[in-house]
Amino acid sequence: MTQRADIENIAQHEGQEVTLKGWLYNKTDKGKLQFLLVRDGTGIIQAVVLQDEVSPETFKAAQDVTQESSIVVTGTARADKRAPGGYELSLSELQIVQLAEPYPITPKEHGVSFLMDHRHLWLRSARQHAILKIRAEVIRACRDYFDDHGFVLVDTPILTPAACEGTSTLFETDYFGESAYLAQSGQLYSEASIASLGKVYCFGPTFRAEKSKTRRHLLEFWMVEPEMAFADLDDCMELAEDFVTYIVQTVLEKRKTQLEELERDTSSLEKVEAPFPRISYDEAVEILHSKGMEFEWGSDFGAPDETALAQEFGKPVLVHRFPTQSKAFYMEPDPERPEISLSVDCLAPEGYGEIIGGGQRIADYDLLLQRVREHKLPEEAFRWYLDLRRFGSTPHSGFGLGIERTVAWICGLEHIRETIPFPRMLYRLYP
Ligand code: 4AD
Ligand code: MG
Repeated sequence: MTQRADIENIAQHEGQEVTLKGWLYNKTDKGKLQFLLVRDGTGIIQAVVLQDEVSPETFKAAQDVTQESSIVVTGTARADKRAPGGYELSLSELQIVQLAEPYPITPKEHGVSFLMDHRHLWLRSARQHAILKIRAEVIRACRDYFDDHGFVLVDTPILTPAACEGTSTLFETDYFGESAYLAQSGQLYSEASIASLGKVYCFGPTFRAEKSKTRRHLLEFWMVEPEMAFADLDDCMELAEDFVTYIVQTVLEKRKTQLEELERDTSSLEKVEAPFPRISYDEAVEILHSKGMEFEWGSDFGAPDETALAQEFGKPVLVHRFPTQSKAFYMEPDPERPEISLSVDCLAPEGYGEIIGGGQRIADYDLLLQRVREHKLPEEAFRWYLDLRRFGSTPHSGFGLGIERTVAWICGLEHIRETIPFPRMLYRLYP
């Protein structure tokens, strides 16, 4: 029995005979010489098959094996400077576990819609593999950061009785004759949890029935949301910049190979370090006007506005104090200017737009009730949320970071659809 190995650790087996289990990524046929590109989930390695050095059965298998067949290969690991990854396998045995049918995704160019229809197979490409690894690293960094900073994980419900982020993007479902809605955010439940735990975070899938097709919007996306008792807008901004810095630095350190696979120019990511520039919404509007862009005070920034603003700084920027009218019902108004709210967005550089939204929440019962009514929200469904302002209310704040937007930015992707294994988008529910 030879030793089982993973491609990413092949260096530890130099000169030894090892067995790899994986799939055939690609093949070059040179007659008596077959080059098999093998991947196993941890990496890719080239296996060289020489007709004179293997059994006739093994050589035939090497000739017959098709792209994406599942295989078990045995061979000797050899250092080779020319090989990608620095190692090659001199193959001695090849077993085909399942001979794949003609594979629909070939090395030639495919259209996006074709690739999306074959997303279940597209995931195997080196590029998608790199993105998924980075996504997992981003998620681990989020968890590690909060776990190490005194935040307690709370799991908030997916089926909810009411809206958190406005009623226009609710996914409604039947709940035994009642209406339930898929969570747009776990925030309201995190607010309840801080009175038990002080500092919490929730992390889960969130849903928005966005009827727009953009490269930044998904209908189902993952959000990590910290919430802190006795914390104001400044505390929230400090946490946001420290958190984003940690994520980016962690990925730069741990996922170098994958960033290289994506040909990501990391120079701008290397500059991501707290503190971030902070500008008020009013200042942001001035910047847009000074650039000759039309923008009306009171509205929310569109993608071109966010891109223009971020260009000014070359670093993530915190835009704070948005007009109350442009934000959700729970935003604490600025005590000096009630027409603006103690809210903050973090805009990523390079045109990736808003990755974080958050701020300070209304702490006063009467004001919150008034807002629920102004926004025509169903009072009954918000009874529990209002209760939080009756029993030990505190100033408190928090934010939500969208995982997919963050991954798109760090990976330097054109479109958010590649940041999640199976994207849910307008008119796409398959696969
Ligand atoms: O700004 P949003 O809507 O804020 C909230 O949901 C707050 N309740 C969060 C909180 O304070 N606890 O969303 C937060 C982030 C955005 O900045 C963006 O990164 C991401 O979630 N996001 C989306 N990502 C992909 N597709 C969509 N449709 C998204 N909508 C929001
Ligand atoms: Mg937002």
